[in-house]
Amino acid sequence: MKKYCLIVICFHLFFSANSQNTDVASKNFSNGFPIKDIDVLISKMSIEEKVGQMSQVDLGVIAVGDICNLKNPQQLDISKLETALNKYHVGSILNVGCGSGTISLENWKKIISAIQIKNQKSSNYPIPVIYGIDAIHGANYVMGATLFPQQIAQAATWNPQLVKSANEISAYETRAAGIPWNFSPVLDLGRQPLWSRFFETYGEDVCLAKSMAVAAISGLQSNVDNTYHVAACMKHFLGYSFSLSGHDRTPAWISDRELREYFLPTFQAAISVGAKTVMINSGEINGTPVHANYDILTKLLRDELKFTGVAVTDWEDIYKLVNVHHVAATKKEAVKMAIMAGIDMSMTPNDFEFNDLLIQLVKEGSIPQSRIDLSVKRILNLKKELGLFDNVVYLPSSYPDFGSKKFSDVSYNAASEAITLLKNNRNVLPLMNKDEKLFVCGPAANSLNLLNGAWTHTWQGVDDKYNTKGKLTILEALRANFTSVNYLQGTSLDSIIDVKTCIAQAKNADKIIVCLGEIPCTEIPGNINDLTLPAVQLKLVDELSKLNKPIILVCCFNRPRIIHSIVNKADAIVYAYLPGDEGGRAIADCIAGIINPSGKLPFTYPKATNEIVHYDHKASEDLATDFSNNAYQPEFDFGFGMSYTHFTYSDFKVSSDTLSNNDSISISIKVTNDGKLNGKEVVQLYYKDIVASITPSVKKLVAFEKVDLNVGQSLIVNLKVTKSDFSFINKDLKRVTEEGTIELMLSDFKHAIYVK
Ligand code: BGC
Repeated sequence: MKKYCLIVICFHLFFSANSQNTDVASKNFSNGFPIKDIDVLISKMSIEEKVGQMSQVDLGVIAVGDICNLKNPQQLDISKLETALNKYHVGSILNVGCGSGTISLENWKKIISAIQIKNQKSSNYPIPVIYGIDAIHGANYVMGATLFPQQIAQAATWNPQLVKSANEISAYETRAAGIPWNFSPVLDLGRQPLWSRFFETYGEDVCLAKSMAVAAISGLQSNVDNTYHVAACMKHFLGYSFSLSGHDRTPAWISDRELREYFLPTFQAAISVGAKTVMINSGEINGTPVHANYDILTKLLRDELKFTGVAVTDWEDIYKLVNVHHVAATKKEAVKMAIMAGIDMSMTPNDFEFNDLLIQLVKEGSIPQSRIDLSVKRILNLKKELGLFDNVVYLPSSYPDFGSKKFSDVSYNAASEAITLLKNNRNVLPLMNKDEKLFVCGPAANSLNLLNGAWTHTWQGVDDKYNTKGKLTILEALRANFTSVNYLQGTSLDSIIDVKTCIAQAKNADKIIVCLGEIPCTEIPGNINDLTLPAVQLKLVDELSKLNKPIILVCCFNRPRIIHSIVNKADAIVYAYLPGDEGGRAIADCIAGIINPSGKLPFTYPKATNEIVHYDHKASEDLATDFSNNAYQPEFDFGFGMSYTHFTYSDFKVSSDTLSNNDSISISIKVTNDGKLNGKEVVQLYYKDIVASITPSVKKLVAFEKVDLNVGQSLIVNLKVTKSDFSFINKDLKRVTEEGTIELMLSDFKHAIYVK
């Protein structure tokens, strides 16, 4: 399994022993790439060099020392580095980081430069090494970088422009560390809420997730300006998020039709805006591991979707064809399978066996040279597009905005716009009286880690010693807004509870704020068997509710944990997802009315752990067992979220009642803020196909727009749709729009159009 051996690297010793490196970090580093023409280069490369380009190792392979030992950390090991570069000509390095969040910008630059300097001497025609990292919600492995809300929260903003800005900053701060490749965004659809990586998705809906995918790729790449952008990596092609058990990397059963209907479009959208790289699903679909699936990796990805970038494996996944999936008897067979299926680069990542085996396979004629050349060309093109042949590393001074207030303001805005108000009885929120006595409790109240989640300074994000300095927890931010805030944690995340003291302290309060949370986790460590929130947290709310005081719940969850038993005991529910480093401030400001919540759920919030019905479920699913004709009984609806102000919709107009081939239809609506506060509203247009050859969904999102309206202001919102917006995958696996009636639905308005 992955990365339990992770590293903190002290480069100081290495650099003092190697004087030529001391000035590396203080100047741009570019010299020494005599050949920049890719075809010429390939014609001169040996098979060892070509295979080297196709391999990616972990930093641990070129370092030595104690794992995660801050006092005696690992160091780059020169002889291991020479083996990797001179003998194996490794083309890419990655790391995952226990403590890599402690590496400063300058140290990152030294690490990357040291690798590149060694690499210059590894061949007569050196090729820059491409370093890749998981900058999942900001440059989370660079000390002092800006951390954003996790993807699920970004989706809840329904604001693609904001998501694009967050990704631009993430790219800027990743590149500032000398790293040109980011393993992000996750484009797997979040339709299995149990999945430990649910928070890394853009939620359950194809239309929303597609626009977030486009925003993220555009923000990261801007195709590709060398200094401030990075190559994005679409993850994890294809069907990774929908395992039957909900456990990470376990088998999925998805028909080809559903695969194309639900799980493919985000990748398609990302490719259409030029996504440069893709990472492959570690799991298997319908019994075939995706790393060995020619139909998915070549026929679909290359021939049909015309993807021309680099396909990298996930962690050690070629070897998993032997020891997890059992579709290959030996590693050699596995290497052949994966390469012939369409893999370009193997995240090996702990040894060089992949290189040895692939060289053997080519030498004995089992894999043609031409297949190798194809992948090498893609990899070298990527390096060229990223400008690595010109400037591998830039000066830290080229990044004056790194970690700036300007950047954290964007993170604050994203956290604020994500916050989704799910309940607000008798307008208990916002709390306008700053002198009210508040009692704050719950495991998420005073923890920055629970706001950030996994991929924060460390892989699992649980270690608070690396936290960004100066960022406020919910409690600290509430104390900045209110004069009287009393705090007791009250429960741990899942086992210890101190009801008595909590009740005693809460007795004197005017309002009780309970901050519920989930341990930061991802991948296999995040597997759970039950979506229900741990009993102690539910009990804490239950006991406090007996005091008959207003209770405000704040939820910071990786996935929609079931809270049905306490929903009625709360007066307000502030759903914050994993809002990142600025989340504490955003939540406290929302409670104090400094910001007006405008987030909308990007997923259906289930009421019961086994009741997973999506909002866009099939009409036939409504044949519920009790004849109530409605299978969809969520705790909270997809797209739902309240505001402190009120919006009225009027003047619904549809430009035409028929829609044919190349036409488009405009749907306009007047939105008026007739409440008492300025606010933002998300206009959501849904449709229903009345009759179709595949059972249609009861409704589907087709367009949306977020608007910002001052008190009393009105705006006409125009949404455009074309015929293809009503398309679906038919039984022959073709995307079609069938002739017939489509019902458009916007707020309470409905209008039928005829599509020809
Ligand atoms: C994860 C990927 C990640 C990679 C490198 C894998 O275990 O599934 O999402 O990019 O590790 O850290």
